[in-house]
Amino acid sequence: MLYGRSAESAALDEVIARAREGQGGAAVLRGEAGAGKTALLDAAAGRGDAARVLRATGVEAESGLAFAALHQLLWPVTGALEELPAPQRDAVRAALGLAAEPAGDPYPLGAGVLSLLAEAAAPHGLICIVDDFQWIDRASAHALLFAARRLGTERIALLFAVRGDAPVPGVPLTVEVRGLPDAAAAELLRARHAVPSGVARDLVAATGGNPLALREIAARLTPAQLAGAAPLPDPLPGGARLFGDRVAALSAGAGLLARVAAVEADLDPALRATARLLSDGTGRAARCALAELEESGLAGLDGTRLRFRHPLIRSAVYEAATPAGLRRVHAVLAELTGGDRRAWHLAGAAVGRDERVAAELVAAARRARERGGYGSAATALARAAELTPEPGPRAVRLKDAAVAAWLGGRPGQAESLLAEARELPGTDTALALEIARLRGRFELNSGDAAEAVRILSTGDSLEMLADAAEAASYVGDTAALIGLGRRAAAHPPGSCGTRWPGSVWRWTATRPGPACCGGRWSGRGPAGPGRRRTICGRRPRRASWARRIWRPGWRSGPDGWPGCRG
Ligand SMILES: Nc1ncnc2c1ncn2[C@@H]1O[C@H](COP(=O)(O)OP(=O)(O)OP(=O)(O)O)[C@@H](O)[C@H]1O
Ligand SMILES: [Mg+2]
Repeated sequence: MLYGRSAESAALDEVIARAREGQGGAAVLRGEAGAGKTALLDAAAGRGDAARVLRATGVEAESGLAFAALHQLLWPVTGALEELPAPQRDAVRAALGLAAEPAGDPYPLGAGVLSLLAEAAAPHGLICIVDDFQWIDRASAHALLFAARRLGTERIALLFAVRGDAPVPGVPLTVEVRGLPDAAAAELLRARHAVPSGVARDLVAATGGNPLALREIAARLTPAQLAGAAPLPDPLPGGARLFGDRVAALSAGAGLLARVAAVEADLDPALRATARLLSDGTGRAARCALAELEESGLAGLDGTRLRFRHPLIRSAVYEAATPAGLRRVHAVLAELTGGDRRAWHLAGAAVGRDERVAAELVAAARRARERGGYGSAATALARAAELTPEPGPRAVRLKDAAVAAWLGGRPGQAESLLAEARELPGTDTALALEIARLRGRFELNSGDAAEAVRILSTGDSLEMLADAAEAASYVGDTAALIGLGRRAAAHPPGSCGTRWPGSVWRWTATRPGPACCGGRWSGRGPAGPGRRRTICGRRPRRASWARRIWRPGWRSGPDGWPGCRG
């Protein structure tokens, strides 16, 4: 099943349809590795009804072997050679190794190839597929392009696929095969894996919608990463299959610069680190490495940054490096950078737990949070937790990472971070209650409100009871509401800084016993389903909750959720 390729398929279908009517033509599919050129060719050939299909695929190892591709393509139809005029027949026979004499003049050969294809096109037309043209040997390429320019009245569709910018001269129609549109790429992912939309969005952005990359990466991710319960690895895996050979072809210096650039995009520290690692006092070797890397087309300068041409090239560079080699690169970069980048390089160089590095990451997380970068804060705090030696502080950092992940729109990750925090031996009662309240709030805001009632009812503070009551009012659980109201009533009057949802007041105010610190529900708004929507609609948006949750003393501070007059 091909996703998101209707325009490209229609272009190929038109070439084939016209060829079947006697207006032969050629087309080139052009795109990066894994873009889906072969898949498009196969699908087009499959739609060609009774048309005959001949195929040749360029093979890198045979690209120096004259006529290797022509041999592949024409071998099934050599029986028709006898129909060709003698000079053409002899030229083709020589090219295919069917005669003792070597191939000579290119003209009779080109003409002979065209004549043989025309014979093969009878009676229902012919689809000729020449895939991976960048590796087709030159002798075959000349003969095929000669034929492609003269298809005029033949019932032949000659379809080429080529990677990158390798030339296919003289073929006027080029169909660019780019990344899949976002929706189609997400559909491709979901056909095999149940990925939530946030994860699909990140994968599509990282791969540029390249179908091979999407499949490769998804196959290498853990179920938790696919489900969004764990962060995606950085860089993503799977680049080696697409770019591994080009990375491996770099010289030692350029390969080292690529490794440095994979973890530090800023050109100045990247060049200085490369020079230091190469023991290159003048920086000349590092500059040569840069020139080679640019020439290779794998990376290029973008202002003062060195950028890989595709995110998966970075992934391929990473996959080719050893862990010790990467740690060494990070260690040198940590000496040459400051602030957040230094913190991350220290973390990259760390072996085992290290409180000093963890504390630097916590500071980086704080700065990210102040900029509103909750996703980055979550990543930094989660890594800080990994590096934290003592289980108590580790649990707190995991909890903070969970809050940041939730505020950054990653609820699955938030839940698994909280689950991890809960299991640590350093989690004391107060922290356990705080974690329970967070779990309850997460459930209430983006999960299962009934589960939120269950979790939040485990606490006895007025804040948790109020949260539980809100969740209970959302699911219409009157029994829970009454019970929660009574438990709240047991707290001394005046002790409540919490604002209670309206329906709690409605239920508790009509039941025996004081509700909580003498408040009254305003009584506005409809009862029943309308009431549920009202309460749901009153939930504060993430941003406003974010402001409160990060405030010092949040744990015991008033919640301030709307819904009742206290
Ligand atoms: N539109 C699509 N929908 C679903 N799967 C696709 C689509 N396009 C390609 N694929 C799948 O992605 C993988 C890579 O596609 P394909 O082999 O056609 O790429 P390519 O452009 O020919 O790459 P290369 O340059 O390496 O030959 C294959 O498994 C293919 O089935
Ligand atoms: Mg291909």
